[in-house]
Amino acid sequence: MKILITGGAGFIGSHVVRLFVKKYPNYQIYNLDALTYAGNLENLKDVEDEPNYSFLKADITDEETINGLFKTYKFDAVIHLAAESHVDRSITDPLAFVKTNVIGTLNLLNAFKNLWNENFKGKRFYHISTDEVYGTLGETGLFTETTSYDPNSPYSASKASSDHFVRAYGETYGLPYVITNCSNNYGQNQFPEKLIPLFINNIISKKSLPVYGDGNYTRDWLYVVDHALAIDLVFRKGKNAETYNIGGFNEWKNIDLVKELCKQMDAKLGQLEGTSEQLITFVKDRPGHDLRYAIDASKINKELGWSPSVTFEEGLKITIDWYLSNTEWLKNVTSGAYQNYYEKQYS
Ligand code: NAD
Ligand code: TYD
Repeated sequence: MKILITGGAGFIGSHVVRLFVKKYPNYQIYNLDALTYAGNLENLKDVEDEPNYSFLKADITDEETINGLFKTYKFDAVIHLAAESHVDRSITDPLAFVKTNVIGTLNLLNAFKNLWNENFKGKRFYHISTDEVYGTLGETGLFTETTSYDPNSPYSASKASSDHFVRAYGETYGLPYVITNCSNNYGQNQFPEKLIPLFINNIISKKSLPVYGDGNYTRDWLYVVDHALAIDLVFRKGKNAETYNIGGFNEWKNIDLVKELCKQMDAKLGQLEGTSEQLITFVKDRPGHDLRYAIDASKINKELGWSPSVTFEEGLKITIDWYLSNTEWLKNVTSGAYQNYYEKQYS
């Protein structure tokens, strides 16, 4: 079987590529990635020489190249993670999100359809999406697979659009697809623009911790390796034309999570408890900031037997340890363009 994983040099994608390369020596795993600011082949150093792994540098918005690659390699399955993924960047440059997340997804769908239209048997197009497509919850309730889409940011609107196209290709052309909508991931190799790695990096460099608004926003957090394991399970056992929600059963208000992170970082850095908390600064809120995300993951739990393997406490500890022992990785990804982004976003 030839499996194309898009966005495999990114945060979640690199964990999925590693899992598949190691678990399935008889499958050929192709990692297609444009290596944007978020893509980093350092994330895959440990598998790059495996005989069942290949890297294809390509941009999913480039229709001709994508069609050519599908014709050449005849991928049996696609696991599609490549995306512009950061809400704040989508607020300053929405069009980039439409190009990659919507047009890029369409290019993949068309290439896959054109290749197998006559016979989709044994083929699969797996689209990785987010819980953010459901919009925001109030203080109570959970997102289920039947919650209406109600996206509020350009990022979530572009992901919602791509989900609709995947579903429409299933209905219209019989393209065999499955979609998962996952909550916030954290773990090693996450680019330090998202909350947890950004704040770890700032604590290490003794920079302020910019909490948006009053910090009373809630997210559900899942350890990235548990997401990768769920993706493997859905890829193998998920029903065709179905959606599965994936979540950590682990809701945190931002401000509480940041305080917990500060506490653990103080302990690791041998600092007095309370030192890092002094770096917390409440800054101007994100426009259109969703109040709360929370996932009902009972469908994947009951139908496929998935549940998170590590607690948040364990996952956060692994994550902090990784960043503290990979300062070179952090230094590399935060040099150059990152500084400009940081200035613009937080000045
Ligand atoms: P990421 O930003 O870390 O990685 C994205 C990867 O896609 C990078 O390697 C980048 O180089 C690549 N890419 C971007 N544009 C491309 C293009 N035009 N052509 C080819 N490659 C391109 O993202 P992530 O956090 O790993 O998220 C991966 C997927 O999971 C996304 O689809 C995202 O919407 C979804 N998701 C993320 C989270 C989360 O918490 N991070 C939660 C739920 C769902
Ligand atoms: P983020 O990691 O960007 O994920 P998402 O917006 O996709 O949920 O943000 C998580 C939460 O943390 C979100 O409520 C916004 C907040 N946040 C801050 O308060 N400060 C920051 O600097 C960042 C990046 C996020």
